[in-house]
Amino acid sequence: MDQIFEHPPVRGRAEVYRETLRQLESLLADDDNLIASLANTAALLKLNFNSFSWVGFYLESQGDLIVGPFQGKPACVRIRWGKGVCGVAAESKQTLIVPDVGSFPGHIACDPLSRSEIVVPIQVEGRVVGVLDVDSQHLADFNETDRTYLEKVVEMVKLKFK
Ligand code: SME
Repeated sequence: MDQIFEHPPVRGRAEVYRETLRQLESLLADDDNLIASLANTAALLKLNFNSFSWVGFYLESQGDLIVGPFQGKPACVRIRWGKGVCGVAAESKQTLIVPDVGSFPGHIACDPLSRSEIVVPIQVEGRVVGVLDVDSQHLADFNETDRTYLEKVVEMVKLKFK
């Protein structure tokens, strides 16, 4: 009788990432077009994680970052290298986890709903060609699990940069 009232098991975030990577592998196998690949990657991540309020790419252009394919509210178009969470991550070539965007000096606020953020640089032959930026509506929503799996996502999409 007890079982009737049991909820289905809640899937952990790592499990959702593993499933997302499998889906992404098949989505990216279709074509090598960069914009199509980035657009579908952003759409898949936004769809699979309820707390993600914005998922997208900023692409290097003449020393700045310009918004690329994304899912979420309209975002600022140009970010200077070294500015904002995206620019700092690009400049340092390191994944940056910001548990509270309100406490990050120079954070560029595109969406008032965004509370925490992770940015993963995309490097091709040592050069940063863009970043993957994910915002969450929850404080401290990102941890080492997100870093591990979002870096795997970036490893997959970076093959589309030529
Ligand atoms: N918050 C980012 C700007 C981009 S939006 O989050 C979509 C930053 O500080 O670089």
